[in-house]
Amino acid sequence: MLLKVNNIDTYYGLSHILQGVSLEVKEKEIVTLVGRNGAGKTTTLKSILGLAQVRAGSIEFDGQDISRLPTHQVILRGISYVPEERRIIPGLSVRENIKLALLKSHNREREEEMIERVAQYFPVLKERLNQDGTSLSGGEQQMLAIARALVTDPKVMLIDEPTEGLMPLLVESIAEIVLEINRSGVTVLLVEQNIEMALSISHRAYVIDEGRIQTSGLSQDILADEEIQRRYLSV
Ligand SMILES: Nc1ncnc2c1ncn2[C@@H]1O[C@H](COP(=O)(O)OP(=O)(O)OP(=O)(O)O)[C@@H](O)[C@H]1O
Ligand SMILES: [Mg+2]
Repeated sequence: MLLKVNNIDTYYGLSHILQGVSLEVKEKEIVTLVGRNGAGKTTTLKSILGLAQVRAGSIEFDGQDISRLPTHQVILRGISYVPEERRIIPGLSVRENIKLALLKSHNREREEEMIERVAQYFPVLKERLNQDGTSLSGGEQQMLAIARALVTDPKVMLIDEPTEGLMPLLVESIAEIVLEINRSGVTVLLVEQNIEMALSISHRAYVIDEGRIQTSGLSQDILADEEIQRRYLSV
């Protein structure tokens, strides 16, 4: 097992958000975490990254306990994060946004090579390398957010709602890119509100509600289960 979340309890101050969450991601898998607004999806990713306070349980990555590591150490071990809010840094060009991600990784000397890798996945970003990152369209900014995570050579990528606010055509291309990244050998833990897309590209899925994993299984089975959709996934 590449990533194992064992029975974690996570808090924001006094608010007890995750209540015994467990999940597992095998090497080369795409696993999806789905659930309504406020269910605890982002908090689960933040717990893995050391960005939210895990008070009980443990997180193992590649056979080692990473529960108490600071975030930059978690990233250096090979976990990268595409946050929900994208966080493109204003005043920095596309190239500089990518460079900043490289500084936090083992790849700081490989800038040109990594720019070429980005160009393979996102030709449009190559044309905009010197443009301010925040001047990109919503879809292009999402591509840049994914590119930044990709250039650190992660073993696993945690991707939080990559298609939020994007038009259907772009949703399809983001889905295709996640599949391509996975085919290149990167394991993916994906959080999505677009349940149909997420379940159609992932192998397995976990359904979270009110800070607890309610059920899990093969993505195709979760997608076909109307009762699960009604209880945990409908608005
Ligand atoms: N920084 C915070 N401080 C206090 N409570 C928070 C904080 N961030 C999130 N929460 C609460 O934790 C719960 C889970 O939030 P989380 O962001 O994990 O949900 P989510 O499943 O990602 O939802 P969404 O689909 O809206 O992104 C919610 O009730 C939310 O209000
Ligand atoms: Mg969220």
